[in-house]
Amino acid sequence: MTESLFTKPELSRIRSKFLHVARDFSGEKRLFFDNAGGSLRLKRAEEVFFHVDSIPDCSEHSNRVARHLDEFERQGRRDLMECVFNARHGVLYPSYSASQIMMELCRVFAENARGTNVVATQLEHPSSYDGMKHYAEVHGREFRVAPVNPATSGVDADDVIARIDRHTAILSCMYASNISGYIFDLERICAAARKANPDIVIVCDAVQHAPHAALDPEALGIDAMTFAPYKFFGVRGFSAAYISDRCASFMHHRLLAKAADDWSLGSPAPAHYAAISEIVSYVMRLGAVPGATASTRRDLFARGMGRIAAHERALLRLALEGTDKEPGLRSIPGVTVRMDGSPLEQRDFIIGIEFGNIGCEEAVAEYEKRGVIVFERSAKSLYSRRMVEAFGSQGVVRVSPLHVHGPGDIARFLRATREIAGLVGS
Ligand SMILES: Cc1ncc(COP(=O)(O)O)c(C=O)c1O
Repeated sequence: MTESLFTKPELSRIRSKFLHVARDFSGEKRLFFDNAGGSLRLKRAEEVFFHVDSIPDCSEHSNRVARHLDEFERQGRRDLMECVFNARHGVLYPSYSASQIMMELCRVFAENARGTNVVATQLEHPSSYDGMKHYAEVHGREFRVAPVNPATSGVDADDVIARIDRHTAILSCMYASNISGYIFDLERICAAARKANPDIVIVCDAVQHAPHAALDPEALGIDAMTFAPYKFFGVRGFSAAYISDRCASFMHHRLLAKAADDWSLGSPAPAHYAAISEIVSYVMRLGAVPGATASTRRDLFARGMGRIAAHERALLRLALEGTDKEPGLRSIPGVTVRMDGSPLEQRDFIIGIEFGNIGCEEAVAEYEKRGVIVFERSAKSLYSRRMVEAFGSQGVVRVSPLHVHGPGDIARFLRATREIAGLVGS
């Protein structure tokens, strides 16, 4: 099931579970196609977050309400490890942002891994790219970067593998690009990396990919994988990583009386865990298809994520090739679809487009006038310069819908695009 739209009744049920799908907080109508910058929120996640966060008790204390709060954290941890990461071993590292986690992982891994070089890709988020580069310098290691293939807007597995040898201490390779949507061939890359150096430490930024597919770091042999709930229907101000047993006890910032593999530092935040449990339950319910059997909660979760991916891929095709009402991006005169070189099954639903008549910032403002929220990934931004320049572009309009959207939304977006492409440039 690589492409399959939700039925109309199911899509309408799904939409009713999310906030601000059709209107912004002030009641104004809009289409929110900037989910890669922070996704639409699941109502239950927000409600439960507010409810749990309103309770002042400390979950590490012993009174009745404190124990109740502690249970939210335990369940959230179970849901993350068992369902999101499918982890049978390893530990969870919770923190404020995925960038903080990634930088800290780069530091700790650089201090503990052995070898004379480290490898990253040109598409990594700055938190991973800069963390890897900085600590390579600190430890006197060669920093090797696998380049973008402009034809696919991804990084070829062979180009990553070619940079790894038996002296590679760390590999940082993201799951999917938040600029081009390209999904890396991690199966090949990780297998080859382990073969080249069985002790290599592999870290993977899954922030972009997590809301679009099931993750499985242990099956891939990955040592650390990051996740951010605010891109996954949830709440800002919390992130988490899976860390493998072999790396969990590397010396890291830790109260020394705690276990060597404990990565939690400071007061736990039960409301964040409670919100994550709601997200996991929501995805599991999507996976509970009549007639299909699932033996574990993870199976249900993975099937739910599979259905999300299938719907989004069908929408991606409509956006590129057109709906019954509107021509697709590939055939609107004056519009160039960048980063369009890989097969759809190798892409999360992120599209980058350029207009012949206006620049990306101006185009984003024109979309907003038409009630469509998208974002520019411009060479002016420190978050995207390295990537868009690698694609030979000065900046693209990034379009990132969510599975709550349907063919009607895509048609509305295409109509706005056609209008903008027809504007006389300034
Ligand atoms: C692929 C990717 N990795 C990491 C991050 C950083 O996440 P955070 O904002 O939680 O630091 C982002 C955020 O845009 C991202 O898209």
